[in-house]
Amino acid sequence: MYDQTAGMTYLGALWKLLPRVKLGPTPSILDVGCGTGINILEAARVLGPCKRLLGVDLAPGMVEEARKKAAAAGVPATFVVGDADALEVEEGSFDLILCNSVYHWFPDRRHTVAGFARALRPGGQVIINCVASPGFDEWISVVDAAWKKLFGTPRDWVPPLPTPTELMGDLRAAGLFVEHLEYELDPAPITDAQAFLRMMTVIAPTWVAGVPPNGARAFMAAVTQGLAPMAGRPFMVTGAGVASVSRKMN
Ligand SMILES: C[S@@+](CC[C@H](N)C(=O)[O-])C[C@H]1O[C@@H](n2cnc3c(N)ncnc32)[C@H](O)[C@@H]1O
Repeated sequence: MYDQTAGMTYLGALWKLLPRVKLGPTPSILDVGCGTGINILEAARVLGPCKRLLGVDLAPGMVEEARKKAAAAGVPATFVVGDADALEVEEGSFDLILCNSVYHWFPDRRHTVAGFARALRPGGQVIINCVASPGFDEWISVVDAAWKKLFGTPRDWVPPLPTPTELMGDLRAAGLFVEHLEYELDPAPITDAQAFLRMMTVIAPTWVAGVPPNGARAFMAAVTQGLAPMAGRPFMVTGAGVASVSRKMN
C-alpha cells in the first residue's frame, strides 16, 4: 500500500537527483528513514555493486518490509531499527547518504544533519528531499479546524515544515557544501477526498493520531466536508518540496 501510494513519488525525486552524485566504484550507501527500502534498493540497481548498503528506520514494520524486499531482490542490504538523530555508524564511513521524505519530520533538523555529515567520508554526498513550507497548508488548516470544532484543544500533529533557506542553513551549519537545491510548488485539485485521506493516512498518519474513538466518525466527516468543492471549484492542496544534493568538503 505504502509503495503504491507514496513510493513512486519519492522514487521520482531519487531518479532526478542521483545523476548529480559522483561516486567511485563500490560505494557505501546509508539510507536514513529508509521506510520499505525503495530508495537504497533502487540506488543499488542503478549504481551497481556496492561495498555496503545500510538502511535505518524508526519503525520496525518498515525495517521488516525492507528486509523482505532486499531478500526477494537478492540485494545484500542490511536494515536496522534506529533513530536518524542518533545514528550508530562509524564516522566518515559512507560515500552517499539518502534521506528521502523524512527530513521534515525530524524534531531537531540541524542536529540530525550534523550527524549525517559525521557519517560521510570527506567528498561524500547527501541527498535530502523533503516536504517544505507551505506544503499541504490548506489540508493542515482543514484538519486543525475540524479538530478544534470537535475537541476544542490545541494539537501538534505536524512539525513546522522547513523552508528551502532553513534546509540550506542546516546543511551549511553541518559543514556541507550545497551543490544543488530546487524548490517546487505544485497545487493540485482534490477530486476524490476519500482517496486523498487514505493517502495521507499512509504518508502522514499523525493526522489521525489521538482522535478519540467515539469522535472518529465525526472527525472524518468534518475533514471530508472541509475538502469538498466550493462554488463548483475543487478544493486545492499545494504540494511543496525541496530537493538537494550536498557534499562534505573535508
Ligand atoms: C514518508 S516515509 C519515507 C520512507 C522512504 N525514505 C521513502 O522514500 O519511501 C518516512 C519514514 O521515515 C521514518 N522516520 C521518521 N522519523 C525518523 C527518525 N527520527 N529516524 C529514522 N526514521 C525515521 C518513518 O518511520 C518512515 O518510515
